[in-house]
Amino acid sequence: MLWLGVETSCDETGVALVEEEEGRTRVIGALLASQISRHRPFGGIVPELAVREHARNLPVLTARLFEETRFAPRELGGIAVTEGPGLASSLLIGNAYARAMGAAIDLPVFGINHLEGHLFSPFLEGEEPISFPFLGLVVSGGHSLLASVEGWNRYRILSSTSDDAAGEALDKIARLLGLPYPGGPEIEKLASRGNPKAFPFPRGFPEKGDLRLSFSGLKTAVRYFLARHADECRDPAFLADVAASLQESVVRTLCEKTLWAAASGGFRILAASGGVLANRRLREALEAGCRELGLLLRIAPPALCTDNAVMIASAAALKSAAGLPASLREDIDPGLPL
Ligand code: KG4
Ligand code: ZN
Repeated sequence: MLWLGVETSCDETGVALVEEEEGRTRVIGALLASQISRHRPFGGIVPELAVREHARNLPVLTARLFEETRFAPRELGGIAVTEGPGLASSLLIGNAYARAMGAAIDLPVFGINHLEGHLFSPFLEGEEPISFPFLGLVVSGGHSLLASVEGWNRYRILSSTSDDAAGEALDKIARLLGLPYPGGPEIEKLASRGNPKAFPFPRGFPEKGDLRLSFSGLKTAVRYFLARHADECRDPAFLADVAASLQESVVRTLCEKTLWAAASGGFRILAASGGVLANRRLREALEAGCRELGLLLRIAPPALCTDNAVMIASAAALKSAAGLPASLREDIDPGLPL
């Protein structure tokens, strides 16, 4: 069965075609229109700009997707759309588009939770099927969360964002460092030339067994640190050391809490995704930690870690194949929990 996925929860317009057969999915085609260059002059996402871009991109991308894959809308079996969490106006336009398309060609529309899309994206490549239970780690611009995933729709939250999500903190810290939006990849680039042990930046709730995920303290610490060292901030080598050290604080926090949750919960599989998991240092640290613990690590490839429509179409396809009926909320929900 062929599924169209539509993702517009934030500042990326994504559409994808995914084919499902016997509970396995295959990507037929995927297109993504990044709005980064449009938002960059403002140092962050401007919701009104995002929604206008989505409105412009959606019909163009969908037409191109069908043209390039040589499929036609009448061959679709279902449409999947992100119904939350995210920016209200961005979610609304994607939902209006998907519903209109569903009505026009008489197809069911499946609402998918954006976090659920991230949660299962590590399983979209490779031969291994999804195996429950697993420990899910999602770290993005809006969320940091650890969940015990016991089956479809059976998600037990072990820890979630206490204040700033890790990606949000990185984006805000990048601004303090004079780096453009989005800050995560920029900090990673700068950090590659720096010493991660140069400065001992604080870690939120570092005590063993404390799963709270907090990154606003790090942001504040970096702000005061930079103010105290204003003169040195003109030295690129100093800034590289700052970037490497603060990245290390985020990586160690995420790794230690995740590995502790995995070991204490008796998990055998860790599935990690979300934009921040595109970070090479974090991927390597998790790989090393999982090897040591004998834990199987499934990690989404970088292109599927950041927002995309493949994960939305696939989640709908797999849920539908597992016998869950298509459901769509009456309205989008910007604060939709997992
Ligand atoms: O999952 P995502 O694309 O969107 C949300 O659902 O929020 O995540 C975006 C976040 C941004 O905060 C961005 O700075 C961060 O992921 N990010 C990274 C990297 N690539 C994206 N953070 C660290 N290192 C990266 N390479
Ligand atoms: Zn996301």
